Amino acid sequence: LVLVVDFGAQYAQLIARRVREAKVYSEIVPHHLPVAEMLAKRPAAIVLSGGPSSVYAEGAPGIDEAIFEAGVPVFGMCYGFQLMAKGLGGEVAATGAREYGRTPVSVTSGGTLLAGVPEQHKVWMSHGDSVTGAPAGFDVLASTTVTPVAAFESVAKRMAGVQWHPEVMHTEHGQAVLEHFLLEIAGCRPTWTMVNIVEEQVERIREQVGDARVISALSGGVDSAVSTALVQRAIGDQLTAVFVDHGLLRQGEAEQVERDYVAATGVNLKVVDAADQFLGFLEDVTDPETKRKIIGREFIRTFEAAEREVLATPGAPVKFLVQGTLYPDVVESGGGAGASNIKSHHNVGGLPEDLEFSLIEPLRTLFKDEVREVGRQLGIPEAIVGRHPFPGPGLAIRIIGAVSKERLDILRAADAIVREETTAAGMDAEIWQFPVVLLADVRSVGVQGDGRTYGHPIVLRPVTSEDAMTADWARLPYELLERISTRITNEVPEVNRVTVDITSKPPGTIEWE
Ligand code: XMP
Repeated sequence: LVLVVDFGAQYAQLIARRVREAKVYSEIVPHHLPVAEMLAKRPAAIVLSGGPSSVYAEGAPGIDEAIFEAGVPVFGMCYGFQLMAKGLGGEVAATGAREYGRTPVSVTSGGTLLAGVPEQHKVWMSHGDSVTGAPAGFDVLASTTVTPVAAFESVAKRMAGVQWHPEVMHTEHGQAVLEHFLLEIAGCRPTWTMVNIVEEQVERIREQVGDARVISALSGGVDSAVSTALVQRAIGDQLTAVFVDHGLLRQGEAEQVERDYVAATGVNLKVVDAADQFLGFLEDVTDPETKRKIIGREFIRTFEAAEREVLATPGAPVKFLVQGTLYPDVVESGGGAGASNIKSHHNVGGLPEDLEFSLIEPLRTLFKDEVREVGRQLGIPEAIVGRHPFPGPGLAIRIIGAVSKERLDILRAADAIVREETTAAGMDAEIWQFPVVLLADVRSVGVQGDGRTYGHPIVLRPVTSEDAMTADWARLPYELLERISTRITNEVPEVNRVTVDITSKPPGTIEWE
């Protein structure tokens, strides 16, 4: 276990992911966690993340310097590097020189940390103060034009640090530097693999559940598919999964869940076809938030009705509910990765008020890309495991205007073409999400064959993103856009115009509603 100490910048999750990419398990802890508690987790190494720009700024978070005395290997990045310098008796000064963005760095002596890294390379910097003197016993490895000490190490103490951000994409050789620290200086072993996770979780779930029965909700998305499959692997038919088909999924997605997913995982699935019911409630509704509320409310009602049916069948008591909570949700809500038995007051209409399920959250320690890998280990079809994030209210919030069966069919046909062509072009991995939006209340004039048309526009909204909080429009190849445009206007008669949304987020959102 490597602990990533979070100093409040947005980099801690990225660092934790990079550590895991080196096949070493990592968890994030807040900087205010007492050092004794950090050490009680018996970390193989500790990484101090970036944070505010100056260790001398008012209210700047510090760290108990006992952390440097514990004999645990420490790696500091950016702010963490300065804290380390300060805590170990080096010098940090407000030199007035700032470095932001891509910065050339000169490697003066590679040492172990920078072994094999080119003498001149570019790294991502974001700092005001600089380290002006390395602590005693540390070798200076690199500098920049304004920062005399940009990296240092003491192999004997098993400590090292860099002024830059090795975790970000813009830093050249960042992953190599991190791995030199983890594997060579700290001596961590690269044993974190998805096969181990499956085995470990299966054991843990069996222990937690005993003979009880478990219920799970499948949404069609990756997280619920993988968490459900893990529980199925552990306890088989003690699990009933409920799939509420609200009729707002994309073409073929419901069938993939009902047929391919069940075939691959053997899960005991109860399908509720609620498409007509949802359409009825959505009739004439155009306001985005009203759509969301109706869908959310109906989803819970429908799921609870299915749940009552499961509870009414003979068998052991139903005590657990599966949730596809991921590690970023856990970190953001300030929780630890360990607690997996939180009681949720799950109020089921028509049942005793105090009926409670315990939660099973087998993905609580995992990042999205790891969840996908676990899904592949479990044999879940790639069409499900590889899915981009998709909003709960589904296509209802990609039809600008009221939702109807006809409009859903138009959007599904266009969306299916987009997905087919994007996959064929090998672009899926480059794109975070690719909403296809139908402007159902807008019409424009076109010409097709000999005739004038008066059809609807489709908006393509491909975006790149790390976490959906911010996003940029994806620069798709013109040839791909051309194929999509030609095919949609040829194959979907109601659509006579295809447009591309080139707004970043902010100011736009990813979805149109
Ligand atoms: P926006 O449009 O706010 O979307 O930039 C950010 C991310 O959230 C997804 N999204 C939703 N997911 N229910 C969901 O489960 C919703 O109502 C909802 N609205 C947006 C969106 O697809 C993107 O990934």
